[in-house]
Amino acid sequence: MSNVFEGTRFCIHTFGCQMNKHDSERVAGMLEGLGSLPVETIEEADIVVFMTCCVREAADTRLYGQVASMKNIPLRDGTPLDKRYIAVGGCIGQRDGDKLLAALPHLDVVFGTHNLGSLPGLLRRAIEQHGRAAEVIEGGAEFSSALPTVREHDWAAWLPITVGCNNFCSYCIVPYVRGREKSRPLDDIAAEARSYVEAGVKEITLLGQNVNSYGRDLYGEPRFADVLRAVDAAGIERLRFATSHPKDLTDEVIGLFATLPSLMPALHLPVQSGSNRILSAMNRRYTREHYLGLIEKLRRARPDIALSTDIIVGFPGETEENFMDTYRLVEEVGYSQVFTFIYSKREGTPAAEMDDDTPREVIQERFDRLVDLVQRKAFEANQAELGATVPVLVEGTSKRDDSILAGKSPKNQTVHAPVPAGADATSLVGRIVPVTIEEARTWYLSGTIVHA
Ligand code: 5AD
Ligand code: SF4
Repeated sequence: MSNVFEGTRFCIHTFGCQMNKHDSERVAGMLEGLGSLPVETIEEADIVVFMTCCVREAADTRLYGQVASMKNIPLRDGTPLDKRYIAVGGCIGQRDGDKLLAALPHLDVVFGTHNLGSLPGLLRRAIEQHGRAAEVIEGGAEFSSALPTVREHDWAAWLPITVGCNNFCSYCIVPYVRGREKSRPLDDIAAEARSYVEAGVKEITLLGQNVNSYGRDLYGEPRFADVLRAVDAAGIERLRFATSHPKDLTDEVIGLFATLPSLMPALHLPVQSGSNRILSAMNRRYTREHYLGLIEKLRRARPDIALSTDIIVGFPGETEENFMDTYRLVEEVGYSQVFTFIYSKREGTPAAEMDDDTPREVIQERFDRLVDLVQRKAFEANQAELGATVPVLVEGTSKRDDSILAGKSPKNQTVHAPVPAGADATSLVGRIVPVTIEEARTWYLSGTIVHA
């Protein structure tokens, strides 16, 4: 049988979290393996895959609009297909299944978070039969790491250690679309880490909705510290992980920030709210005091650690006093970065049933106040870097100026530095170079590469 993918071009639009970005690399790996070529834009593509997110309403409604508007985009010259084929995967695919086909008449394929590997077969069926196909299954599938991949960068890899979530925070849709938490065996993780080190990867980011509870389903107890030690022992230069749940962050893991050479001094520890009443309504299962205790221990283990967090403003019933508890917590911790979100009601979650009578403008004003504080604190945190020389993993050139290199410090700060005279920017990508910091802005540092 002829290969329907031969001569085709595909593009993937990814929304949401790093897990989706990782899944997109697997989708790209499968399609390239079948002979389709990656392109950047929908206009150039014969096959368009949307990897979707439904954590907040904005991304949800945008997807429907985007797919609907695609019918106006003409086919590219020389396409081997009779039309442009569109597939929707990720969390909206998982949640809505074949309802998406009914709502979007020119959508061809729907797949879910548990059956990425079905996409090529579904697309082939749609193309050969000029039909439409949806397949979504409930859990139980393999880790997408078993599928071929095309990594976005040669020098960085994402390594999922768990999928799914058992926490059921009352506002969150993730446990309903990603299923129950499932851990990968430690040996598989260690083997994948070794293969990345052999391939020249410099930085591994371990992924999971809550990496700290890794292993509970396999070993009866969390063994995240063992994962960190195993990946460090594989010989990786830089190790990071996301995301952590404060209720499961152990003293053992905190201690590794002091002793594990590859573990970078940066931690994303979502607090969501600084009010004990709201934390309880969110079903977060820790208190403000417990969280601040963790921060103290982390700073004792690694005084230079850079902390980041997620915060939801406007959870149902949040009062000005509750909000001020959050505001003061942000002031006290002094985060390097805070991802701020306005609460978004998700049908099917417990919070969607809670009374929610705070006016929009009040929530927006609180949100703006918090963003101002976050920026001030991030600016302050960056000032402390002036004069320091930091090892920067070069990621490429600045979007606005290709004579400026852009990369990441150990604390995950963006660092800019001019390409040294006579050097070739592309040969520096993926290398770690020392940069002396001369300027500190809110969201980036800049300086000069030091010649060793
Ligand atoms: N509304 C607003 N923000 C949300 N998040 C998760 N669910 C919601 C929601 N319903 C935020 C949390 C989480 C981040 C990934 O998204 O802060 O940590
Ligand atoms: Fe959602 Fe809470 Fe699970 Fe994070 S830990 S994915 S916020 S339910």
